[in-house]
Amino acid sequence: MESLKKLFQPVHEKVDETWSKVTIVGVGQVGMAAAFSMLTQNVTNNIALVDMMADKLKGEMMDLQHGSAFMRNAKIQSSTDYSITAGSKICVVTAGVRQREGESRLDLVQRNTDVLKQIIPQLIKYSPDTILVIASNPVDILTYVTWKISGLPKHRVIGSGTNLDSARFRYLLSDRLGIATTSCHGYIIGEHGDSSVPVWSAVNIAGVRLSDLNNQIGTDDDPENWKELHENVVKSAYEVIKLKGYTSWAIGLSLAQIVRAILTNANSVHAVSTYLKGEHGIEDEVFLSLPCVLSHCGVSDVIRQPLTELEVAQLRKSAKVMAKVQNNIKF
Ligand code: NAD
Ligand code: LAC
Repeated sequence: MESLKKLFQPVHEKVDETWSKVTIVGVGQVGMAAAFSMLTQNVTNNIALVDMMADKLKGEMMDLQHGSAFMRNAKIQSSTDYSITAGSKICVVTAGVRQREGESRLDLVQRNTDVLKQIIPQLIKYSPDTILVIASNPVDILTYVTWKISGLPKHRVIGSGTNLDSARFRYLLSDRLGIATTSCHGYIIGEHGDSSVPVWSAVNIAGVRLSDLNNQIGTDDDPENWKELHENVVKSAYEVIKLKGYTSWAIGLSLAQIVRAILTNANSVHAVSTYLKGEHGIEDEVFLSLPCVLSHCGVSDVIRQPLTELEVAQLRKSAKVMAKVQNNIKF
């Protein structure tokens, strides 16, 4: 164009690389909440969106692009063709079916395995060095499925896991104690969802362990009934689904936190789903959450959290449930 020649004096060809490209597969409620969180929190300014519903995909992309003036030089692409994902540092998978009211996460396993069989090889083809972050449910089993399908080393396949459950737990602690969620420290480990394990022995405020103040904490015999908090964590997804049809904002923020930790080489600790054979006496090849160190390589370390006998027993029970479901998956 003539006017462009008048406007620009070329000095060097543009470089089309931001070193922080993130692909999100699935532009449903979870995928878009994740995209919005990442763009507005400046986790990345380079997002590729993929879905199989072309119109919805284009509509979501355009709507986000129209917000560019309020973001930091965001580049937002979308296509049903995976070639746009090339060179992604991280690929987040949120595609697949979600629970209807009354369904459990495990009810989705074969349907979403079939979805992953289409998606994962395409992502690896265009970004062989990528780190995969899985959110689709049942997330722990689908992270295992992704590890199997992708052939990637275990440190590069991560499930969003109980980072969300831990956030819900910390919110409920904060509500009961009347202090900020960020000042309530505690982890939920194991399966994301129904058989998750609250690590009561490590819950603390400024290093003061609640289990030192109440040695019955989290048990059936506890007169203060702290156990109720964990029960509410497990129930809360079902309640939100019943009320609004799906969950989105908290998982979107959780995914943004995980992606930020990896892109910034933060070495920060998050409860995410990782390969656990051998940890805490787990005998099967399963992915479950423990606190993990996240950095450029993905998971660099699993934190060896001292657990009570009860907590270990609950974790191993979760692992057995996972292994049993995995045995029936048709790859
Ligand atoms: P949604 O129905 O709103 O969106 C799913 C999207 O996936 C749709 O846009 C659909 O077109 C797309 N999709 C389906 N098959 C595809 C394929 N083969 N290729 C590309 N795209 C495909 O669902 P949602 O509410 O966004 O939930 C998505 C998943 O995330 C569900 O499995 C849900 O259970 C899970 N989830 C996980 C967590 C967590 O903590 N891990 C939290 C909330 C939801
Ligand atoms: C959650 C989804 C449903 O919000 O796994 O917990």
